[in-house]
Amino acid sequence: CGIVGYVGARPALSIVLDGLRRLEYRGYDSAGVAVVGDGELLTEKRAGKLANLEKALAERGIADPEGTGPVLGIGDGTTGIGHTRWATHGGPTDRNAHPHVARDGRVAVIHNGIIENFAKLRDELESDGVEFTSDTDTECAAHLLAGALAELRAGGAPDGPQLLAAAMRQVCVRLEGAFTLLAADAAIPGAVVGARRNSPLVVGRGTGENFLASDVSAFIEHTREAVELGQDQVVLITADSIEITDFDGRPAAGKDFHIDWDASAAEKGGYDYFMLKEIAEQPQAVADTLLGRLTETGEILLDEVRLSDQDLRDVDKVFIVACGTAYHAGLVAKYAIEHWTRIPCEVELASEFRYRDPVLDRSTLVVAISQSGETMDTLMALRHAKEQKARVLAICNTNGSTIPRESDAVLYTHSGPEIAVASTKAFLTQLVACYLIGLHLAQVRGVKYADEVAAVVDQLQEVPDKLRTVLAAMEPVRQLARDLSTAGTVLFIGRHVGYPVALEGALKLKELAYMHAEGFAAGELKHGPIALIDKGTPVICVVPSPAGRGMLRDKIVSNIQEVRARGARTIVIAEEGDEAVLPFADHVIYVPRTPTLLAPLVTSVPLQVFACAVADARGHDVDQPRNLAKSVTVE
Ligand code: G6P
Repeated sequence: CGIVGYVGARPALSIVLDGLRRLEYRGYDSAGVAVVGDGELLTEKRAGKLANLEKALAERGIADPEGTGPVLGIGDGTTGIGHTRWATHGGPTDRNAHPHVARDGRVAVIHNGIIENFAKLRDELESDGVEFTSDTDTECAAHLLAGALAELRAGGAPDGPQLLAAAMRQVCVRLEGAFTLLAADAAIPGAVVGARRNSPLVVGRGTGENFLASDVSAFIEHTREAVELGQDQVVLITADSIEITDFDGRPAAGKDFHIDWDASAAEKGGYDYFMLKEIAEQPQAVADTLLGRLTETGEILLDEVRLSDQDLRDVDKVFIVACGTAYHAGLVAKYAIEHWTRIPCEVELASEFRYRDPVLDRSTLVVAISQSGETMDTLMALRHAKEQKARVLAICNTNGSTIPRESDAVLYTHSGPEIAVASTKAFLTQLVACYLIGLHLAQVRGVKYADEVAAVVDQLQEVPDKLRTVLAAMEPVRQLARDLSTAGTVLFIGRHVGYPVALEGALKLKELAYMHAEGFAAGELKHGPIALIDKGTPVICVVPSPAGRGMLRDKIVSNIQEVRARGARTIVIAEEGDEAVLPFADHVIYVPRTPTLLAPLVTSVPLQVFACAVADARGHDVDQPRNLAKSVTVE
């Protein structure tokens, strides 16, 4: 979910709506706002995308349909909160949308996360006569907060911002699970209180105005100065103050930071979709991720390292944990890390990791890959690893987010903000980061393939140019996508590092085009999935370079023949100049020659373009596919 809060001198509604527009990628099942002005609380909320909320506000004469013009009819409403939701408890309906308002009609609460003890709290509140108006866990927090405020007032506490913070602290200690909460009270204009446990929340420090948001993109056009909150903290903002405490009310310090990308990085910049822009940005993102990582002598530098070289020499096993696309980056990394370092490396879905009770100890290195740095499954896997005394290294694209903060070391991917829900440039830079870590481990420990490692460092530098070549030749892929947009199923096959590329190609098509798509290890096809092949079934085959591991290429060529013999329409991604694939390919997409282990950097790109174009041809929202969210902060 995406969360925004504002207190200042300007009309809160337009600032909050604008922030929500920038956070919509975090969830778009429903949206809502609450504004405090003249002692009154205005709320509006709607199922569906932000546009529905804006329409509802326009119908009430409060804002124009774009939500950008003057705000009408709410007096001096300069305090506001807003929410864009990815549903957990309760379906995405108007009544389940946030904010939730307590029965006093004055206190509004928005929430990201899951309140795990909500059933117990709800029973308790209901036995006190509270009637619930939604199916959400959040509504409990609204009623509890209103109750705490009433009690504090009855005890003689003076009204004012501090009262709101005190009441919020009382609520937080009663909640179990993960949450970011923001609240405003009509009786306390000029203040918004926020609380955070596990879910993300940052403060934007303005002049005569302050902001709260799930991430900085919500307020970047107003301020570049931000404050990072720690775990279990409550923050109170007014127009000219930011006060942070722990849940017991003890003052706590936030960590100030400056946001160094500009607002235009989070704009479409002339492209129809963020995804198209982000695909096009890949050469730069890869170059930026390599930049400054290599010393003059070819050694690799991590950003924040709380791991000594000795720690790295002691590593006897690597576990990679991640979700979704980041997991596929991890699958590629396994081939590189094991080959270069000879340390066993396992890759595991973060959501499975801790429940399996993996064997971990001090000499295990756990690599957590996450674009957002907030994915709850990955965070929980990391915490489990730390409890077992393993060392944790994060690969992350979001500075100061929870996962790198809780890790022993971090390597940031410098892909800039990724807005489209389906990951592209972040994936490529995760691959680069994985290679860098593999090479770093190899260097620190002394390597068997020293020459190869040195060569790979050079070859990595050539990747941005190769990506430009790939991107310049994508028109046939788009044409093919239009042709195949009505196919019932699309299969992807690959071997070695081409196998995770096949999985990623299939994932992209599923998430964007809502088509049945599956990726297989090419050799496994004959053990079952080949039964799926029918006349005309498109099979996309990722073929490795004949140079590096020739045998591997020959094996997959046999697999291509097997599917073709059964009627498949074969689309072959091969290295330029590889003519041996031509007799078996209905379509060939050539990519520049790249060493086998690095090949996913170039072979993934046509699959991204393909999925994007199929989704477009089918009329889907490419940037915001149904049922998904960019950053999933619940388990
Ligand atoms: C969500 C997104 C995926 C993403 C995954 C992991 O499910 O929809 O695109 O790959 O989370 O996200 P992370 O931020 O941890 O890389």
